[in-house]
Order: sequence, then structure tokens, then C-alpha cells
Amino acid sequence: MRTFVYPGSFDPVTNGHLDIINRASKICDKLIVLVSVNTSKIPTFSIEERLELLNLSVGKRDNIEITSFSGLLVDFMRKVNAKTIIKGLRAISDFEYEMQMALLNHHMNSEIDTLFMMTSIENSFLSSSAIKAVAVNGGKINDFVPEQIADIIIRKLKK
Ligand code: PNS
Repeated sequence: MRTFVYPGSFDPVTNGHLDIINRASKICDKLIVLVSVNTSKIPTFSIEERLELLNLSVGKRDNIEITSFSGLLVDFMRKVNAKTIIKGLRAISDFEYEMQMALLNHHMNSEIDTLFMMTSIENSFLSSSAIKAVAVNGGKINDFVPEQIADIIIRKLKK
């Protein structure tokens, strides 16, 4: 069974993440979307809120599981017996950071490899932080996140 793990902050999930989730789920048997802790970012949404936004966005799918983990990604991978990390790449600017993480994870466990998928061009300018900046300043975010979560994000950021 080919299990891919798609880790990220998902703070919150965007249409760019969903594009990767949809396409990655077609090339593996099981996709685990993993809300993880990025120690260099201060989160806006709690882990529970991020899981809720992901569940509302993805819905129930046979081969997609949505969960969270607070330790090292390689430890989670070992726990679920997965060997492949999948990440989205928007632009060359993502590359250096993603390459460092891929090499670090591979160094910690040489059985683990990272596969990169290019984000669709129409989502290539999206990031969770840019969307939060639009929302907090009263802009519309309906084109950037699934419609079922746009209002929840706006309400949270207005508080
Ligand atoms: O969406 P992000 O913030 O770019 O995702 C980064 C994330 C959460 C995947 C990364 O920080 C991570 O894997 N955190 C878990 C802890 C870990 O394993 N760190 C070592 C690899 S950087």
C-alpha cells in the first residue's frame, strides 16, 4: 500500500493546498494530510480549528485521512509506516526551504523521500499568510479558499 503524507501548517488551508490534496490523492493508495507544528511560525488557528477547516474543505473521501501530530515528521512517518512525503512547490522561492527540509528528513531517515508537485498556475500566488492579510483588512477571500470556510476565516480574523 502506497501511503503519502502531506504535512503543513494549513493555517488555514487554501485552494493551493486543496489542489495538491486532490492531485496527490490520485497517485497514491492513501493520503494522510498532516497538520504539523512549524516552530518558526506563530499560528493564527489552533490545531483543532485547522483540522476542522480541512475537514470542511476536503469532505469525506475514501483514501484521504486528516490528522495532526506535534513531534518530528519522520517519527510520524515511522508510526504510520509511510515512506513518502508530498509537498507543493509554487515558485523557485519555495525551493530552498523545501530542499532543506527534504534533505534533513532524508538524513534523519534514509528510507524517507520527498516528492514535489508543482502547484497549478492559478494558485501559484496563494499563501495562507497573504490570505490572512487580505481578510484582516476587510478584503474578499472567496477566490482563495473553499467557499464553505471563507466566512469562518473572516469571522475569526475580525475578532
Ligand atoms: O506549511 P509549512 O509551515 O511550510 O510546513 C512546515 C512543516 C510543518 C511541514 C515542518 O515545519 C515540519 O515538518 N514540522 C514538524 C517538525 C519536524 O519534523 N521538523 C523537522 C523538519 S523541518
